[in-house]
Amino acid sequence: MHGDLAAWLEASGGSDEEFVERLWRLAVRRPVEPEAKARALAQLAAGEISRSGLLRDLVASEEFAGVALLDDAVARAAGERAKPREVRGPARPRLLRAPAWSDERAIEIPWCLARYDGERRVLDVGYAHAEPAYLAGLLALGADELTGVDLAEAEAPGLRRVVADVRDLPFGDGAFELVLCVSTLEHVGRDTEVYAVEAPRDEAGDEAALRELRRVLAADGRLLVSVPTGELDDQGWQVQRPPEEWVALFERCGFLVFEDELYVRDEAGWRSAALAEARAARYGAGGPGAGAVLLAELRPRSMGERLRLALRDARHRDAPRRSTLA
Ligand SMILES: C[S@@+](CC[C@H](N)C(=O)[O-])C[C@H]1O[C@@H](n2cnc3c(N)ncnc32)[C@H](O)[C@@H]1O
Repeated sequence: MHGDLAAWLEASGGSDEEFVERLWRLAVRRPVEPEAKARALAQLAAGEISRSGLLRDLVASEEFAGVALLDDAVARAAGERAKPREVRGPARPRLLRAPAWSDERAIEIPWCLARYDGERRVLDVGYAHAEPAYLAGLLALGADELTGVDLAEAEAPGLRRVVADVRDLPFGDGAFELVLCVSTLEHVGRDTEVYAVEAPRDEAGDEAALRELRRVLAADGRLLVSVPTGELDDQGWQVQRPPEEWVALFERCGFLVFEDELYVRDEAGWRSAALAEARAARYGAGGPGAGAVLLAELRPRSMGERLRLALRDARHRDAPRRSTLA
């Protein structure tokens, strides 16, 4: 049969119901709601719209734009990881861009997923309310053991799910080679009603979480973390700290800031930014979610290094900080 005709027959074959269900899953990555399905089937039956018309409308929707943005972000991260490397070490894409209408996930997801470097034992903190695109990207990393921990429970086939408070994890010392903590640290010890879970309140919850993550991280492990940053802003359900305050907290908890990058959102969209711009950002300004984010790769600081730095700080109070944000 003529190849094009075969494709037409395939697209117009099967029931309308099957087509609508498949179309929604493929385009917007979710089951179609009963009302939308009934409307589409009625329109198709009355000849008011074709299957191509339904596809065109769905692809023109804001929802599809959001799906495509995150799908592109995950694909970008996979592409970065697949690039041939002359020296050992993870890909390090920087200067990412995302539209102003998106929240910070469009930056955080590719930044973090691109930096995976073949670690076998991986922990994701705060997976229960993560974007499915991010979770699918995590699963695609191919880690031998992928664990998700959260106060809340959620379905995530392929992930070992553990319900626990990140401040008190049921894992041994050095259990993970890589920990990812995307937009979660700022919630620890705050009001978690929005996630339908309860945990002890503590303004220093982020510090306790970092110390516990330091404990469960292997000596040569890495923590990829992202947090909202800008003006100090305690919103009850989360806290946004200035960049230097986050960095000081990371260092106080025994981490070395191996790499960091700040992003801000302005009218033109998300872009890499200087410290002064990020410091002035406000949550929710110019779009959904954070106005700026700090992304960092943290490594446990060895005892020798901590001693050396303590001595250096004692000798040169104004010595340059390790973070590039200083
Ligand atoms: C903003 S959501 C996380 C977003 C997600 N990581 C992503 O990639 O989009 C914050 C998550 O942190 C979890 N959470 C808050 N406090 C926690 C705690 N003390 N221990 C473990 N999980 C906590 C919440 O249940 C929620 O799922």
